[in-house]
Amino acid sequence: MHLPDLSEENAVSGRLIAQLTKIVGEKFLYSDEANRQQYARDETEDLMFLPDVVVKPADTQQVSQVMKHCFEHGIPVTPRGAGTGLSGGSLPVQKGVVLSMERFNRILDIDLRNLQATVEPGVVTQTFQEAVAEKGLFYPPDPASRGSCSLGGNLAHGSGGPRAVKYGVTRDYVLNLEVVLPSGEIIWTGANVLKNATGYNLTQLIVGSEGTLGIITKVVFKLLPYPTKNLVMLVPFASAEAACEAVARIFMAGIVPSCLEFMERDAIDKTIDYLGLPMVVPPHVQAHLLIEVDGNDMDALFKDAERIYEVLAPYETDEILLADTTEQKEILWQLRRKAAYAVRHTSVYKEEDTVVPRAELPKLLRGVKEIGHKYGFRSVCYGHVGDGNLHVNILKGDLSDYDWNHSVTEGIREIFHLVVSLGGTISGEHGIGLVQRPYIGIALGEVQLELMRGIKRVFDPKGILNPGKIF
Ligand code: LAC
Ligand code: ZN
Repeated sequence: MHLPDLSEENAVSGRLIAQLTKIVGEKFLYSDEANRQQYARDETEDLMFLPDVVVKPADTQQVSQVMKHCFEHGIPVTPRGAGTGLSGGSLPVQKGVVLSMERFNRILDIDLRNLQATVEPGVVTQTFQEAVAEKGLFYPPDPASRGSCSLGGNLAHGSGGPRAVKYGVTRDYVLNLEVVLPSGEIIWTGANVLKNATGYNLTQLIVGSEGTLGIITKVVFKLLPYPTKNLVMLVPFASAEAACEAVARIFMAGIVPSCLEFMERDAIDKTIDYLGLPMVVPPHVQAHLLIEVDGNDMDALFKDAERIYEVLAPYETDEILLADTTEQKEILWQLRRKAAYAVRHTSVYKEEDTVVPRAELPKLLRGVKEIGHKYGFRSVCYGHVGDGNLHVNILKGDLSDYDWNHSVTEGIREIFHLVVSLGGTISGEHGIGLVQRPYIGIALGEVQLELMRGIKRVFDPKGILNPGKIF
């Protein structure tokens, strides 16, 4: 991977540090190595890039002033949320300044009349969900890392999570954003309304732009009434491909579950071990589907469950477990939500975020395994199959560094070609960031990429904001 070094003239100088200190205060600027180390990684593989300096601004004006200085001097700035990203989006690959949004942690307003909330981007996703739930409101997007990731990071990557299948992803809840542009100018992208046909949609352009176009400093979200009831089912399959095949059938039967998650056997075993869960999975079980239906009418949910049982009847499933206590549901959800952590715990890994039209999932899973066999790597798969979104974790295990950096890369390339040939794309919710950047040309042609580069140039003519990402 080619990563341009900082040239002498844009290296962070003592003078710039003094100017940044004046803006954010001494306590909120780190130039010592021990503190900078804390901002050198995210949760992507074993990557590490040390920034020259870290600043933690308190408000929009401070972000704007930091950007003005960096813009003037051509200093790279990498915005950072909670550092839970899986594509290396917050890694300061060209050094310079890491701009941490961790002090933007206030929920500013929950508007019960309009079912909206205005928040700062450093709020942890689950904290926000719980705050609105206390008022009977629902903010559905729930990435697996919701207990530690921040809303700003979710916006940067267009994050999803299990509930996306019924409720949509982060971008579907954003009405308006306050953004600081690379030049330091401050804008609102839209209006606090549910419909907006006024010019280009800058709000949705910023969402998913991975911190390359501007820095989000406030967000207005729309909210829903909280669904009061749910049913959670764990369905064991004797074949992982059959589990994938059943997914499309459930929707074809007219049911839209609020979650439809998949775990293959390896992922189940690793997570049970990692969490020490009180579960025994029989040896012939090769995969689980975790299915949730939600709403406000228990009878309707039982009817959905019955219909799901009918659809699954032709498949070789073991007995379906219907969780009947909140505690049981929590255990089943832990099993799924902690899968990524469990896999990471066992080996250095690369996590791919493939997504295909859901009826193509069996072909995708089969192809991934065949490609792994061909290139000599092992993969552990799980994910949001209701969305056709399969996470493919490739384990380094005892592969040599050479194989890890060459054969595996070739294998990933082949997986992405397969994904595209099935009508899918290379990231559903983790973003392109740094690690998927070499592959973006598999999913997007030169014309689309040049349009994107043009947009980047308009927002950031000097290329200082989160350089080295996406393309
Ligand atoms: C998950 C993360 C890795 O679904 O996206 O567990
Ligand atoms: Zn996921």
